[in-house]
Amino acid sequence: MPDPTWDAAALVARYDEVRAHTETLAAPLSPEDQTVQSMPDVSPTKWHRAHVTWFFETFVLAGHEPSFTPYQDQYWFLFNSYYEGVGPRYARPNRGLISRPGVHDVGLYRADVDARMRDLVTTLDGGTLDKLASTIELGFHHEQQHQELLLMDIKHVLSVNPLRPVYAGTPGAPSEPDPLGWVEVEGGLVEVGHRGGGFGFDNELPLHQQWLEPYRLADRLVTNGEWLQFMADGGYARHELWLSDGWARVQAEGWRAPFYWTEVDGVWLEHTLNGTWPVDPGLPVSHVSHYEADAYAAWAGKRLPTEGEWEHAVVADGQAEAAEAGGNLADTETYHPRAAGPSTGHLRQVYGDCWEWTSSAYLAYPGYRPSSGAIGEYNGKFMSGQMVLRGGCALTPPGHARATYRNFFPPGSRWALSGVRLADGGV
Ligand code: AVJ
Ligand code: FE
Repeated sequence: MPDPTWDAAALVARYDEVRAHTETLAAPLSPEDQTVQSMPDVSPTKWHRAHVTWFFETFVLAGHEPSFTPYQDQYWFLFNSYYEGVGPRYARPNRGLISRPGVHDVGLYRADVDARMRDLVTTLDGGTLDKLASTIELGFHHEQQHQELLLMDIKHVLSVNPLRPVYAGTPGAPSEPDPLGWVEVEGGLVEVGHRGGGFGFDNELPLHQQWLEPYRLADRLVTNGEWLQFMADGGYARHELWLSDGWARVQAEGWRAPFYWTEVDGVWLEHTLNGTWPVDPGLPVSHVSHYEADAYAAWAGKRLPTEGEWEHAVVADGQAEAAEAGGNLADTETYHPRAAGPSTGHLRQVYGDCWEWTSSAYLAYPGYRPSSGAIGEYNGKFMSGQMVLRGGCALTPPGHARATYRNFFPPGSRWALSGVRLADGGV
C-alpha cells in the first residue's frame, strides 16, 4: 500500500541514505574480499552491491524511464537473483567465479542507477510517483535485507581464511545474564500479521486470527554456557533428541557444536566478525540450525515457539515497536549478539542479537496473495521447505526489525545469525 508520507524529496533522501549505508558496510573490504564466494549460500559482497542496484533498475527504472535500456545486458543476467519473470540468470553457486565486473565497475553501475533514480523520482508526475513509491520503498527494504546478508556472508568468507581476518567491531566484555525466566502469556483468539501503517512485506499479510492456548516464552535466548551443557550431556550424539532429517545432517556433516565453533587444545573458540575468541558462556548461542534448536529444546524438556506465539507474546509484552524496545541491531556495531543482562520481568533480546527459530513452517497466511508480475516472486514462491525466524539479529539494520517480520531459512541453515528462545505450555 502506498505510504502518503513519501513525496519526491523524502524518497530521494531515503534512497541516498540506504544506498550509502551499503557502501559504508562494504568499505572495509578489499576488492579481493568482495569477490569470494565461500559456499553456495554465500554471495560475494560486490554481487550484493550490484544485485540491489539491479533491483531498482529492473523494478523501477525499466517500467518508467522513457527510453530505458539496461545499463549492460550482461549485468541484467548476472545480477538477477531468482526472478524467472525477468529472464535467464547466472547460476547462483558460481557467483564467486565472476572476476569481472570488478569492484570499481560495480561502483560505476551503482552511481549510474543512483543518478537515474534521482532523476526519475524528481521528474515523475505526482500520480505516477504515488503508485511507484511502494515499489521504491520495497527496494529500500530489499537493500536492507542484503545489508544483513552482506555481513552474514562476509563473516563466512573471512572464517575460511586461516589468517582469521577481522571485519570490524570489538567484542563485548564477558558477562553472565540472569537465570532464564518465563513470561506467561494468556493466549486466546489473537491477531497475527501486519496491521498497516509503516512498511511490511507481502508475506506478513493478511492480518488474521489464531487461537492460542496459554503458554510461556523464555525471557531471554539460550546461552553458549547452556549449549555447552547440552553438548556435555551428549546432545549431538543422542538420536532420540533429533528430528530424523536433523539427525541425518549430524551424521553426514559431523556436527558436534555450533557452526563457527572450533575446538583447539580442549578449548572452544568462536569465529566472529570481531575476530576469533574463546566461547563466552554468557552470550546467546548463535549459528545453530533449526534442527539443533529443536534438539536443544527436546533436551531441555521444552519446545520452540510457533511464530504466532512469538509475535503475540511480543505484542502482549508491550514490545510491538522495535524502535522503542531497543535492542542489539547493526547500529550498535557489535556485529555479534550480546549478553541478556539483568531480568526485567519482560522478554529480553526480542529485537536484534539472534534471529529466533520458530517451530512454524514458512507458509502463506490464510488469504495471502502475491502481487502480480515478476515482483510477486519476491517472497511467495519460497513457501516450501523452510522455517520461520523472528526478531532480527546483530547484523540487521535498524528500522528493519518489527514484530510481524517473517524471516525464513531452510531448517539445516547455520550461516545465518540464528539462535534459540524456548517456549513451554500451550497444550
Ligand atoms: C528472507 C533472507 C531468506 O535471502 O532470499 C533478498 C531475503 N529476498 N532478496 C533471501 C531476500 C530478496 C531472503 N531471506
Ligand atoms: Fe535480493
